[in-house]
Amino acid sequence: MAITVTWLGHSAYSLQIGAHRVLIDPFLTGNPLAPLKADAAEADFILISHGHGDHVGDAPAIARRTGATVVANNEIGIWLRSKHGLEQVHGINPGGGVRLPFGRVELTIAHHSSSLPDGSYGGQPNGILIKTEAGPKIYHAGDTAVFLEMQLIGDEGIDLAMLPIGDYFTMGIDGSLKAIKLLRPKVVLPMHYNTFDLIRADVSQWAQRVQAETDTRPVVLQPGESFSL
Ligand code: NI
Ligand code: MN
Repeated sequence: MAITVTWLGHSAYSLQIGAHRVLIDPFLTGNPLAPLKADAAEADFILISHGHGDHVGDAPAIARRTGATVVANNEIGIWLRSKHGLEQVHGINPGGGVRLPFGRVELTIAHHSSSLPDGSYGGQPNGILIKTEAGPKIYHAGDTAVFLEMQLIGDEGIDLAMLPIGDYFTMGIDGSLKAIKLLRPKVVLPMHYNTFDLIRADVSQWAQRVQAETDTRPVVLQPGESFSL
């Protein structure tokens, strides 16, 4: 089963896993790096890491238009049902997971916050672990600081990790280097940087340090570019 991961800027990704189209944190409207408009996004599944507007993004509108099934934490799940009238929603929590046609999706912890765009309580922030049916394991950290339990996530055998490097709201380059050493992924993609002035980061310096200081291969995508596993 071929797996292709396309960066949509910020923390947004479009994954093609076999025949299944999966969006993660689809923040397109208001994302200056987004290579496509929300009304052109296609999805069978949408995974949301936490409640902030730059992660929930266009998920309600895309889910309504496409009929995509959404996976998020319990509180975001309730909000999507009650405020947006969505029905195909899994509201799960860390330690639990849901089996979908392309694999099992689990939420992990993340050290961050999670209020929803309208001020509703968004529950706890999460990372997302995808254990694909085909084998590869993909970890999207959401917004987070580095945390020691990343070692446990790493013990799963991560093939591809997406980690924030932009600092200010999340870990920066130093934190991401520590995270990579705990997670030990085969490949790492940087995210949550250069979208806004507050989160400017020198991504070539980051990539050089990942090469020099870890056994992980850094892959820097431009918005709209893809990586195939
Ligand atoms: Ni956030
Ligand atoms: Mn964010």
